[in-house]
Amino acid sequence: MAQIAPTTALDETVRAGHATTLLMIPGPTPVSNEVLAAAARPILSHSDPAFRAAVGETLGFLRQVFDAPGAQPLVVGGSGTLAMEIALANLIEPGERVLILETGVFGRRFQEIARRNGAEIRVETAPLGQPIDPEQVRRALREFHPKVLTITHVDTSTGVRVDLPELCHLGREAGALVVVDGVCSIGGEEFHGDAWGVDVALTASQKALGAPPGLAIVTVGPRARAVREARKTPFPGYFTDFANWLPVMESYEGGVPGYFGTPAVSTLMSLHTAMLALIAEGLPVRYRRHERLSRAFKAGVAAIGLESVAAPTASAHTLTVARYPAGVGDELVDAIEAEGVTVARGIHPELRGRALRVGHMGSIGTAEILVTLGAIERALRRLGRPVVLGAGLTAAQHEL
Ligand SMILES: Cc1ncc(COP(=O)(O)O)c(C=O)c1O
Repeated sequence: MAQIAPTTALDETVRAGHATTLLMIPGPTPVSNEVLAAAARPILSHSDPAFRAAVGETLGFLRQVFDAPGAQPLVVGGSGTLAMEIALANLIEPGERVLILETGVFGRRFQEIARRNGAEIRVETAPLGQPIDPEQVRRALREFHPKVLTITHVDTSTGVRVDLPELCHLGREAGALVVVDGVCSIGGEEFHGDAWGVDVALTASQKALGAPPGLAIVTVGPRARAVREARKTPFPGYFTDFANWLPVMESYEGGVPGYFGTPAVSTLMSLHTAMLALIAEGLPVRYRRHERLSRAFKAGVAAIGLESVAAPTASAHTLTVARYPAGVGDELVDAIEAEGVTVARGIHPELRGRALRVGHMGSIGTAEILVTLGAIERALRRLGRPVVLGAGLTAAQHEL
């Protein structure tokens, strides 16, 4: 029988179908078509009334998501690491003390930022997969008297979520400024910046907020702002200086465009659309969605035979970090990819080659959870591992 050559259009569709996998890494996360389309409109001037209105509204929405009515949000082009640097560097002068709570690799970034800004550093580390012991933190605060306490709300290398209200309370009680890395939590995990006593919180656009990568987001509370204003030594940062950005953000919120550096207009339009969706969903509903999907996914991977790294009492709702079954390495991640789903390898030094990381935050729903569990089951089967097809799906379905 004669072969019928596919038309070009069909050929492209087929190729796209094969090339596109479901993105389930812990950031960047998939975003809705509306969010993508918002960036696809003609480039706006940063003083265009439409842009001004979108930025002003976005800053107001961020204040709601961070639940920090007393803080000033700022958004600049960059990633979460820039947000960490902006958040911490403004607050420390050479020789001042920073206490870093470490539940995975992201605490180490704060350590490096503090070191480069001349701080004296103490690090308190939790055992792998465990939250940090409040007694250990209390002791460190008592002995070290830090000016700043840094906390990673959810560490993306371990999947551990700490008891943020408790740790913030301890920091405040000891007179420290509290800086929280919420890159893998804010928008997906409950967060009450002002009520919990957070001085500076930060995230980035590409995770639980459901926007594309490209924006660093920081909220600056009044105590932190006063500390920056009262610095005795000049702040060596320029792009990272609160003093350069906060007036610009206030200006936008007041309806007047400001300028320090050209804003990432297209990505900001996407963030605005993502925030409209987030506010329409409602924060309590959004937190419950993340909690439910996480519970289902974790039950599914457990039924397949993958053990979660984070202790059940300290496990994040935004992602799952799970150990490979005995005798399996990173080839499992490649096999899952071949089954149509992109997940991430372990990045913690003790988990490299031993664990995978799956993000379930932002715009993720039930469908993505079930598709991912199915792909893990088929991947294990292809690798010749004993797996009951449907076991993970069944466990997840029960939770859903
Ligand atoms: C908890 C946490 N903090 C900071 C970062 C750094 O963010 P970025 O990669 O956007 O610079 C990440 C990135 O995954 C993260 O998960």
